[in-house]
Amino acid sequence: MTVHHPVVNPPFNIVRVSHVELGVADLERSRRFYVDTLGLIETEQVGRSLYLRGLEERNHHSFILTEMAEPVVRRFGFKVYAESDLDLIQQRFTELELPAEWTSQHAQGRTLRVRDPAGMPLEFYASMDSIERQLQNYGAYRGCHPQRIDHINCFTHDVDASYEFYAQELGFRTTEYTETDDPEPQMWAVWLHRKGNVHDIALTNGRGPRLHHAAIWVPTAMHIIHLCDLMSTTGYLDAMERGPGRHGISNAFFLYVRDPDGHRIELFTSDYLTVDPDFEPIGWKLRDAQRQTLWGHAAPRSWFEEGSCFYGAEVQNPTLEARPIVAV
Ligand SMILES: [Fe+2]
Repeated sequence: MTVHHPVVNPPFNIVRVSHVELGVADLERSRRFYVDTLGLIETEQVGRSLYLRGLEERNHHSFILTEMAEPVVRRFGFKVYAESDLDLIQQRFTELELPAEWTSQHAQGRTLRVRDPAGMPLEFYASMDSIERQLQNYGAYRGCHPQRIDHINCFTHDVDASYEFYAQELGFRTTEYTETDDPEPQMWAVWLHRKGNVHDIALTNGRGPRLHHAAIWVPTAMHIIHLCDLMSTTGYLDAMERGPGRHGISNAFFLYVRDPDGHRIELFTSDYLTVDPDFEPIGWKLRDAQRQTLWGHAAPRSWFEEGSCFYGAEVQNPTLEARPIVAV
């Protein structure tokens, strides 16, 4: 098992995770969940796609909901620092014989669409239409006061291979990881960042590639508790899958909910700064109960097994057999 050292000066500069497009069956039903309940802001509807953003976000979208026959995940995207970074990424994916093509996306500048080695549909762009942020428009605050997209967590059938790609090729830096309890530990999950908090992307062992969850950053734990009160009294009781609680990993206060199509969304706050070059990745054992939840509560089986398929990606069984602690 390898914990990769950071690539100090990667050939291109990925700034942060930026957006995700989720397939939904009924746009109005999804609007009630994401806008009326969680509190995301509706930037605009274009055709059968709804473009949403958080209160502090000044880019056009971070969540796109698109009516589709199958509720798959169409793409997720990263912002890069400059247009020239896009050309360098295209060059590198082509050298690696991975799919990479230029595409146009609503409200985004030049966009490079790729697939990573596991088959996940990613895109990179440098510019997005700017919209006036609502951070101090407190009259617009609803739901859990969602501020911004924070991270994406994906199942991958080969954590070692996916981790090596994101760390060594794309320049993501390791903050925390989970290893198996074996005498010769295997990597089970890893948390990786570009923007300076715990993660932009996490990679988890499982049937993959699939989206495990997309996370939204909220101001305080009390906003998450308020969302529990709100969801439990407005018809969304069964949509609360796990939490609220505090993760051992990342120290985050969390709640996991399932949207009307089953996509998992995490409401997330109170992780920490990771920008120091001498930051040492933090390791956890898979069967340490406090790894999942600092207070010792195990996650339900659905949390380890269910996820959303990616558009056009073939799902494979994991190469690593390992059993986390599951709530009974
Ligand atoms: Fe998460």
